[in-house]
Amino acid sequence: MPYVNELMGDLENFLHNEDIHVPALIRIGIAHYQFETIHPFLDGNGRIGRLLITLYLVSKKILQQPLLYLSVFFEKNKSLYYDNLTRVREKNDLIHWLKYFLTGVDETARQASNTLSEILKLKENVENTLRNTAGRRAHTALVLLSYLFKEPFIHVKQAEEICNLSTKAANGLVNLFVQQGILKEVSGKTRYRLFLFEPYLNLFK
Ligand SMILES: Nc1ncnc2c1ncn2[C@@H]1O[C@H](COP(=O)(O)OP(=O)(O)O)[C@@H](O)[C@H]1O
Ligand SMILES: [Mg+2]
Repeated sequence: MPYVNELMGDLENFLHNEDIHVPALIRIGIAHYQFETIHPFLDGNGRIGRLLITLYLVSKKILQQPLLYLSVFFEKNKSLYYDNLTRVREKNDLIHWLKYFLTGVDETARQASNTLSEILKLKENVENTLRNTAGRRAHTALVLLSYLFKEPFIHVKQAEEICNLSTKAANGLVNLFVQQGILKEVSGKTRYRLFLFEPYLNLFK
């Protein structure tokens, strides 16, 4: 649709227009409204529009990594989200939308930063536990732990490969992790058991 192309062109110009002096967060807040109102796709406009916010902030080097996940805030305050977007469209009232948007950015960023602190604390605690309990396997145990921060579900077979251990030794190591409350068996099976780094996953709840 040429109409949509024109509106998308307009959005792009607005995003890059350096004659408009406005803080990046305000600019992307307005652009998100604009994008959702243009609604260029049949589906996925919400998701792409939220991605746009995070990727814009990365491109402006305000974020070093795409780690601002606003979807939880919008989902939690959904009717306000829709109401505020509608208010811009129907009444030209940007202020309520922008306040809502900035509150979301603030809350989400704080939450992410708290979670990160908790992850670092957990890492330190678990490392200490392993140094105190794994004996001469301590180094291998820390290798397994660092893998678990990337991939919190694990089979014994994987532990074998990651740590370069025999099946017996890998089993022993995984058992130690279970005893120390680091891993928990979640499959309920006796063969091909699956273990979860539960204290880590709990931090994201
Ligand atoms: N009144 C409104 N004004 C502007 N955008 C709106 C309005 N109501 C809903 N939207 C946007 O439309 C999105 C839903 O569109 P959709 O294409 O189904 O996206 P998705 O499939 O990613 O959820 C919502 O997340 C919201 O961003
Ligand atoms: Mg949809």
